[in-house]
Amino acid sequence: MWFWALPLCYNGFMKKVKKLIIGNWKMNPASTLEAKKIATDVKRGTHTMRKTQVVLCPPYIYIPSLINFPTTSLFLGAQNAHHEAGGSFTGEVSFSQLPQFKVSHVILGHSERRAKGETTEMINKKLRSVVVDGMTAVLCVGESVRDNHGDYLSFVREQIVLGLRDVSRKSVDHIVVAYEPVWAIGARDAMSPQDIHEMSIFIRKTLREVFGPIADGIRILYGGAVNESNAKEIVQDGFVQGLLIGRESLKPKNFIEIIKAVDPL
Ligand code: PGA
Repeated sequence: MWFWALPLCYNGFMKKVKKLIIGNWKMNPASTLEAKKIATDVKRGTHTMRKTQVVLCPPYIYIPSLINFPTTSLFLGAQNAHHEAGGSFTGEVSFSQLPQFKVSHVILGHSERRAKGETTEMINKKLRSVVVDGMTAVLCVGESVRDNHGDYLSFVREQIVLGLRDVSRKSVDHIVVAYEPVWAIGARDAMSPQDIHEMSIFIRKTLREVFGPIADGIRILYGGAVNESNAKEIVQDGFVQGLLIGRESLKPKNFIEIIKAVDPL
């Protein structure tokens, strides 16, 4: 395909950037005690990592009990938030309420939220609030199905371009893009590293269209059925700068193995 012709010099630049491994706990675990146990194990198991940053994204309800966990390489993230700072929004939590609990990252536009009606326009509003509040937005993009005509590429391109609309170039340090093909989330097998590489080139090119060369500083992650057996190959041969992990992030032993596999790369 045409974008194979693009130079791969991005990867040379990216080697200097710390990798980012994000654990999306979704609506788990069942208790504060378990949440603290997972976070404690992950902290102990990863404190010697030098080239990788780790973000734990628990449900809101556990965040205050994890306030003492963040370090210079272990961070706390939220799975969503409301774009308004405050007001009559029953059941919502705003972005500006999060930093007091040392939350520094926010996942936005996960396919499980998009499936519940979250539009790219809503995600864009949220993303702008996140970066204004000085946190890092993890913009999730990915197609539900693949076709032979490349329509999935225009779909992902639109999610990126509209998701980042009116975001200033100054904010690029606060943006991460997580490519998660919907069909790989919760599945048995991840996408092949070769296909991930193809998408990472395409996403990089799209980010350059939006922000210019400065976009090369944005980390692109892969998510969907990542485990301890495929993580290294995905990062190495997929040329991504990190991973977004669901199920395996709730199993500290496996999650630590994934981080250890990726850290030396
Ligand atoms: P999975 O989930 O790792 O369990 O496939 C990934 C995600 O939903 O981000």
